[in-house]
Amino acid sequence: MNVHARLGKGSQPRYLICPPRYFAVTYSINPWMDPKAWADGGAALSEKAKVQWLGLRRVLAAAGAAIEELEPAPGLPDLVFTANGAVVLDRKAVLARFRHGERRGEEPLFAAAFAALQARGLLDSIATLPDGVTLEGAGDCIFDPRRRLFWMGCGFRSDAAAAPFIERYFGVPCVTLPLADPNFYHLDTAFCALPCGSVIYYPPAFTPPALAEIEARIAPKQRIALDRDDARHFAANAVCVDRTVVVSSAGAGLRRELEARGYAVAETPLDAFQKSGGSACCLTLRLDHQLRVGMAAGAPAKAAAAASPVVAAPTR
Ligand code: ARG
Repeated sequence: MNVHARLGKGSQPRYLICPPRYFAVTYSINPWMDPKAWADGGAALSEKAKVQWLGLRRVLAAAGAAIEELEPAPGLPDLVFTANGAVVLDRKAVLARFRHGERRGEEPLFAAAFAALQARGLLDSIATLPDGVTLEGAGDCIFDPRRRLFWMGCGFRSDAAAAPFIERYFGVPCVTLPLADPNFYHLDTAFCALPCGSVIYYPPAFTPPALAEIEARIAPKQRIALDRDDARHFAANAVCVDRTVVVSSAGAGLRRELEARGYAVAETPLDAFQKSGGSACCLTLRLDHQLRVGMAAGAPAKAAAAASPVVAAPTR
């Protein structure tokens, strides 16, 4: 049976991305980041990042994504990782609060970008987390469209205390998954919930209680466990656009598993971003997740207005 037939065809998926004009590794807040190695790489690495980002943009558009671009800003090299900017569902957004001072300067820019999206009629409401609680956006809070819940990674960047707020604000369960390995410090570096209900994950990234939650809620045949090699190439950091799984690299085994479930695999190299601890999923933020696809999907309440100075007009 084609698992996709039941899902129906939703509206065009929409993503927020940010050009890597100022992307660099200038500080270290995860084990992948080595500012000296980046500096030694010189202009070639910046150039490579720009080319690879354009490759990702092209693949997303080819898979059918609508694109919103956030204006980059000097001095905020990690702003490219828009997944960390907010959690979005049903035209509602919760703005991120970052763990590390190095990224806190991004918060007002994401706030302005989301206000602009709201002004254009693409969002209805925007909320701020309770004081003192950190949550690094969709990078640690992944909507599972099949189970209609959020999976929240916690321990390194995000606080489990954010989960009750997310549950109340969006009205869906939020399952916390305490993370175990600093190399997989955000949930999206080790976990991807596909629209058919299957999940790509790297078991060693999770603590025993997190693995118990995963095993209790996801049937064995829906679990695609990565080997170490795929995991270290951030194969779990995938973006699923309709039936295309976009990823920096996927080994033969993973590719077979995905194709058997009816997906096309689109590889687009993003190793320049992995030097900062990020890949495909981190570089995108889905703006149009809907709890009930088919009911309110598509048609924003107000027509999307003209481009704002903060968020450029949607393009294909
Ligand atoms: N250098 C960034 C950081 O450490 C990478 C963020 C990757 N984003 C993600 N959603 N995993 O915060």
